[in-house]
Formats: sequence, C-alpha cells, structure tokens
Amino acid sequence: MDMEKMRLRLDVNNMMDTAVGAHGITQKELDGVIPKAKEAFEYFKKNRGSGMMGWSELPYNQQEVVKQLLDTAAAIRSRFKNFVVLGIGGSALGPTAVQQAINHLHYNELSDQKRPGPRLYVEDNVDPERMLALLDVIDPAQTCFNVITKSGSTSETMTQYLVINDILQQRLGDAAKENIIATTSADKGNLIKLVKSQGYKSFIIPDGVGGRFSELCPVGLLCAAVCGIDIELLLKGAAYMDSLCSESDIYRNPALMAAAMQYIAMGKGANISVMMPYADSLKYMADWYCQLWGESLGKRYALDGSEVFAGQTPVKALGVTDQHSQIQLYTEGPFDKVITFLAVDEYRGDVAIPEGCPDIPAVNFLCGHTMQELIKAEQLATEYAVMKSGKLSHTITLPQVNAFTVGQLLYFFELETAFTGAMLGINTFDQPGVEEGKNATYALLGRPGYEDKKAELDARPAKNPRFII
Ligand code: PA5
Repeated sequence: MDMEKMRLRLDVNNMMDTAVGAHGITQKELDGVIPKAKEAFEYFKKNRGSGMMGWSELPYNQQEVVKQLLDTAAAIRSRFKNFVVLGIGGSALGPTAVQQAINHLHYNELSDQKRPGPRLYVEDNVDPERMLALLDVIDPAQTCFNVITKSGSTSETMTQYLVINDILQQRLGDAAKENIIATTSADKGNLIKLVKSQGYKSFIIPDGVGGRFSELCPVGLLCAAVCGIDIELLLKGAAYMDSLCSESDIYRNPALMAAAMQYIAMGKGANISVMMPYADSLKYMADWYCQLWGESLGKRYALDGSEVFAGQTPVKALGVTDQHSQIQLYTEGPFDKVITFLAVDEYRGDVAIPEGCPDIPAVNFLCGHTMQELIKAEQLATEYAVMKSGKLSHTITLPQVNAFTVGQLLYFFELETAFTGAMLGINTFDQPGVEEGKNATYALLGRPGYEDKKAELDARPAKNPRFII
C-alpha cells in the first residue's frame, strides 16, 4: 500500500483571520503559542509510554497480543452467531466507532455468507429496554459475550455481566464460561477475580491505557478482529500518524497544529467543539471523539492546583444531515465554536443520479451527477458558508475510509488531546468528575462502605414543589 496516498490531511486555513475575519486566529497569536506547543510536544515525548501514556506505544508493542487476538477471533467466528460487547464509555464507544467506520453500514443485516463475522451488538447502557431488546434478537447460547472494563468494577458493566451470566448459567450450566471473554486490568477490580475463579478466557488492558484511549488495545481490537477488520492495518495506520507527528514544529506536526489552534480558540471563547463527519461511516467516530475530548480536557484544576475550569464542550453532528438541523446555529449563532469537518476523498461506492424531471430544471440539474459528487459539494459548500459567516473551522480529509486511515484518525485525536491537555496544564488522563455520580449511585443502591455518602445524599436540599410543574 502507498501510505503517502492514504495520508490524512489537516487544513486549518479557516481558523485564521485571513479567512474568517475578526474572530479568526492571527498569525501573531499562532506565533505566540509556538513555545507552549513545543513544550507540550516535549512533555509528551519525554513521558510517552509511561504513567497514563501507555496508549502511545500500542501501535508497537502488541505483536504477541495481536496473534492471540487473531486466533481467538477466528475461533469465535467459527463458533458463534453473535458477538456482544458488555461495557460502557471507553469500553464501548471505540468498538462501535471502528465497526461503523470500516464494516458495511448494515453489517448485522447482511446474510451469514456476506458478513465477515458474527452479528455485533455493543451494550453501552443499562436501559432495561435495551437489554430486553438484545435478548429478543440473540440466542445467548450462540453468542460470545466480551465483558470489558478497565477498572473491573463499573456498575453498569457488572450489571450487564450479572444478567447475562445468570441466563447463560441457566441455559448452559458449567459450560457458560465458554461464552464469556473478559477484557480487563491484570490486577485491579472484580472482573479479574472472576476470570480467576470462573476460568474465563481473558485479555489484558495494559496499565497506562485509560478507557477513552483504549481502542487500539484488546478493548477494541478483539471486537474488530472478530468482525473481520484488519487490526494490523489499524495499528499500522496509528504508527504512521505517530511518524507524521514526530516533530515539535507545528507546521510539520498536524496533531500539534490542531492542538495549538484549539488552545488559542478556547482562549478566545470558543468553548464548543463540533465534530462533523461527512460520512455515515464516521458518524460514531464523533461519539468516540466526544468522550475523548470532553472527559480528557474538562477539568476543574490545573496540575499546579489552581482552579481553571478547563475544557471545550464536544458536540457531534453529521454532514449533510445536520445541515438541515444545526448549521443555521453554526453560521448565525454565537462565536463560541470550532467545527471539525471530516471529509472523504473517495467513498467506497457511488450512486449515479439518473435522468428525470426534464421539465423541472431546479431538480434536473442534479441528473448526471452522482451522490458522491453531491455530498462532497455539500461539504465544501458548508465549509464555505461557515467560513463566510466568520466562524472557525478546520477540515481533516481521509483519502478513503479504511483500517489504515481510521487507525491514523484515532491516533491523531489521541495525540491532539494529549497535546491540548499539556498546553492547558491539566491532567488529561484522569476523570475525577465522573466519580461523584458513581459514588452517589453506589450509595443509593446500598453498596457497603457508602453509608456516609447515603447520609450526605439524604441531607441534600429538599425539592421545592413550586418548581415541579
Ligand atoms: O475513559 C474512561 O476511563 C472512562 O470513561 C471509562 O471508559 C468508563 O467509565 C468505563 O470504565 P471501565 O472501563 O473501568 O468500566
């Protein structure tokens, strides 16, 4: 494969005042942030592979694991009709995003002959209706369940496990364990205890790989391999992006350039980041990005302990669908957003728009074009409209959507997030704000050790009925 031909391109022209006018970034502002960007790059370079930056080495250190994943995936494909991911957040968003990006858009509905693997379902919630709906369409005995939790203790995931394990036990007895694969930390949490006591097959989430940075480890790779995705190419794409981002010069490092732009934009009040792919295949990449960007950068405290209330609210949109929903706001609303367009040079298929409506020129002009030409024209047109309205945007173009380019995209956003977090001076890799809600849930459901939290909750201000109408 010609890697250069499959290289992602970042175009930041429409972030600059020269394109968008008064609210744009000036060359002086960009020059001014270069030392900080270099510092962020050097920080990443020095710390990569250690602490919570273990994710950065995933493209390089998994040869053995990849072999085991491929063997396991082949065994699953030959034995099971369905593959279900039990997990939430970082354990679910990546598998969904990569599956949607690379496989057929109606993968589950394909015939067994055409589908490269078992049907895939990702249970990213504890909505009972969702669980019941899943059980309506799968036969648990013919299903492999991949329980994924880095902490090994997430209530949602353990609830999904308890429900499924109970059903499997009733149906299969001791053989139930053959239908469960656990992906978790080597020595943390409860799932690893179950692996040991129940004898489940397992894969390890390496230390230093947080949930939202885990798609390129067994969290995402097993599911992808089971569904016939070339996981070696995915990792190769990530390594290629790493090589494209290996210099401290922002003009030679796309992830650092994007981080520098976002950093300046945040300083100018752009506190919303809209991810807008022009491809249904990349629709759930926006969901994955929202967790990565939101949970990593949304922090109350800087590393020096000062209160900063950092972050940029991520919003997902889909081109062209959201042109008919959100674009009015993006063009004429407040100057508080950066829009990231994801464009595609060559879609994997095309549909000719046939001749028709000869007496209606306002419809007939479409004839003779293709749907690919239309979606690409609409992407360019929207980029232009956003630019003309003075709003900030940049565009990442994928030559095609395939395992190699998706690997690049995942790694690009991980790097951009790490660089931006370093520039903001925050801890990019923790999520203390998630804990309060988790602890309150434990208290409400009577988890031992959370009695004080329960008392705290019971003492919260009473609701005023006047405001419940
Ligand atoms: O990024 C994170 O660490 C979190 O969002 C987790 O992915 C999420 O909370 C699920 O956690 P776990 O994998 O421990 O079950």
